[in-house]
Amino acid sequence: MIKGKFPTDKFQSLETPFYYYDMDLLRETLKTVKKETENKKYSIHYALKANANPLILKEIAAYGFGADCVSGNEILRALQCGFPASKIAFAGVGKTDREIKIGLDNDIFCFNVESLPEMEAIERLASETGKTTRIALRINPNVDAHTHKYITTGLEENKFGLNEPDLPKAIELISRSSHLQLIGMHFHIGSQITDMSSFENLCVKALELQNWFSGRGISFEIINVGGGLGINYHHPNHCPIADFEAYFRLFGKYLKLQENQTLHFELGRSVVAPCGSLISRATYVKEGISKKFLILDAGMTDLLRPALYQAYHHIENISSGKEYETYDVVGPVCESSDVFGENISLNQSQRGDFIAIRSAGAYGETMASAYNCRELPASYFSDSL
Ligand code: LLP
Repeated sequence: MIKGKFPTDKFQSLETPFYYYDMDLLRETLKTVKKETENKKYSIHYALKANANPLILKEIAAYGFGADCVSGNEILRALQCGFPASKIAFAGVGKTDREIKIGLDNDIFCFNVESLPEMEAIERLASETGKTTRIALRINPNVDAHTHKYITTGLEENKFGLNEPDLPKAIELISRSSHLQLIGMHFHIGSQITDMSSFENLCVKALELQNWFSGRGISFEIINVGGGLGINYHHPNHCPIADFEAYFRLFGKYLKLQENQTLHFELGRSVVAPCGSLISRATYVKEGISKKFLILDAGMTDLLRPALYQAYHHIENISSGKEYETYDVVGPVCESSDVFGENISLNQSQRGDFIAIRSAGAYGETMASAYNCRELPASYFSDSL
């Protein structure tokens, strides 16, 4: 089994658990995204929710990408880390007045509006400040992303976006307002999407909706298809960079743009997941009745994905070259769901060994909590260790 490359000698003096980021891999990924999009009418907004670590954000901003934010604080973080306001999109079903004002005060690129009452709130706050703001309609396209239920967002049963019956009312509200400028449509059907036909279906639906709008004399500067491109969690060493070429080619094929129209993407996971690993030490090897438990000092508080979505993350013992044994790899938290993997084949492990949980750069650090009064995990970077 090929293992990832980790500077375990440099890890010796560090307290575990911590996130370790391979900055060369991040840069390679960013270069790939840039190469695949730069001569096209494509624009990337990196989704901060995947990883909002300032050093990661500064690196991404340096490549000229924009940001996709889902809270006022994410907007402020994006600005602090070098993303220009003119490239910040703001989505989310529950934008508060404070958050809307942050967007308005900073004159961000666009609000992705998710409901009629939200549109009224933005209109009211914009008119109070005498501003005109750009909006895109986040439309729920009722397209199945064929991914985990909890990260499916584009079905009727989900809370996200305007539904088609809302659209006539939305147009009416916008046409009556001198503070709202409609620039586009926005979609996001889900995350960790590996069935590419879902994106194809989204393109078909987007064009159908565009026709509906043009029948009413409305054209769009932008179409924003959200994020969602999945990564290969099973083979982090063989497939460290997602297949961006195929992804962008698909949109080129199925979503023919009109003149002066740009296609926007909000990629999160595919940009940052592969470069991050959660590094922990084995605290105990415990012999159970029918299995062996490898108990780590990292838990679900540091990486929630396995407990919340039954997500698979590849696990490696990066200290041991001994023969393979089978373990249930678990954390110390007082919850039976605090399990990173069952029946995992690992080099024979002992107390103190470093265990790497791979592909944890997205929705790892950002979803960490202090449950059980635990410390939040630290972060280290390959550049500066
Ligand atoms: N745009 C919007 C409006 C979103 O809601 C999301 C993710 C993205 C873009 C970025 O999607 P990505 O390219 O990362 O798939 N915590 C879950 C994932 C939640 C995704 C939420 N929205 C997980 O760990 O799998």
